Amino acid sequence: MNMPTNYRILITGANGLLGQKLVRQLIRHADCEILATGKGRSRLPSVWSGFRYMEMDHTSPKAIGEIFRQFQPTTVIHAGAMTQVDDCEVNQAECYKQNVEATSLILKACQSIDAHLIFVSTDFIFGGEDGPYTEEATGNPVNYYGSSKLLAEKAIMNSSLSKWSIVRTVLVYGISHDMSRSNLILWVKSSLEAGKTIQVVDDQFRSPTLAEDLADGIIKIAMVKAYGIFNVSGPDRITPYQMAVLTAKYFGLDQSCIVNVPSSSLEHKGKRPLKTGLIIDKAIRELDFRPKSFTEGIGILAKQLKLAHSYKN
Ligand SMILES: NC(=O)c1ccc[n+]([C@@H]2O[C@H](COP(=O)([O-])OP(=O)(O)OC[C@H]3O[C@@H](n4cnc5c(N)ncnc54)[C@H](OP(=O)(O)O)[C@@H]3O)[C@@H](O)[C@H]2O)c1
Repeated sequence: MNMPTNYRILITGANGLLGQKLVRQLIRHADCEILATGKGRSRLPSVWSGFRYMEMDHTSPKAIGEIFRQFQPTTVIHAGAMTQVDDCEVNQAECYKQNVEATSLILKACQSIDAHLIFVSTDFIFGGEDGPYTEEATGNPVNYYGSSKLLAEKAIMNSSLSKWSIVRTVLVYGISHDMSRSNLILWVKSSLEAGKTIQVVDDQFRSPTLAEDLADGIIKIAMVKAYGIFNVSGPDRITPYQMAVLTAKYFGLDQSCIVNVPSSSLEHKGKRPLKTGLIIDKAIRELDFRPKSFTEGIGILAKQLKLAHSYKN
């Protein structure tokens, strides 16, 4: 006989980097029934079990309505979003639809069944003049992606839903199971291995976050029903140049091929905030959140890379 579960958790954007890590970690929780949702068919590994996948475009009220009616989630982790900063800048109407309107639809659906909504937000809601930021800091985005996330946050905070959590995070890195996504570590490693010289900015400060750690923080929030705003990021506050140097050191590659440059020398459609990073004391204190340092994170990625290559060969 199947035992009833305490949590019915619906994940949006389950094919994405964070979504994959959430599914992977949640299937180990016996007291959770998991519904992974995303755009189109599942791109999660077919060998994983212990969850169901259903297509749900989070801009479609009809799809959301049907899936919420069928599954009746107790908890919704809204990880799906339009995440490429430059695309959001160029296509603001689409970004508004994907990040603001879609969140309002998910919010309404949660309100209709009094589900706990966990919304994944970003350090890019801040202006970057005076980071790192606490949960109380005021948003002042410098690009459209950040504006869209801040609007979505405000819609949640100003709603009648009492059970909400906003999880702000920073520069998430990790390896997706199909290696479909690059990140700074993989880019630095492959460029230096190919003998290329790379330019990396040294005036932006971030708290890089291992995707597994972010998933862990979110799951803790879901399990203990921690409501309100939580900063969930890595513990270090370093520049992309420093991240590149640490990566080169870890893999024994030539650091002299990494050239530090100011942000002003790179052209981006969406402006990047300079000094962000998040203060994570609240998550450490209230959730016992213990994120890995960036160097530990590189080690974890290196192991995953080895494993991915051994499966291929
Ligand atoms: N990555 C970072 O550095 C970072 C930093 C701060 C905050 N965040 C936030 O963290 C969350 C997870 O990000 P991530 O790194 O996992 O990004 P990701 O890999 O780009 O995942 C986002 C997912 O959302 C899905 N999606 C987009 N539009 C959709 C729609 N209409 N219906 C259903 N799914 C849709 C995408 O589907 P497809 O795969 O089919 O395109 C993708 O799988 C996002 O809310 C992001 O804003 C990320």
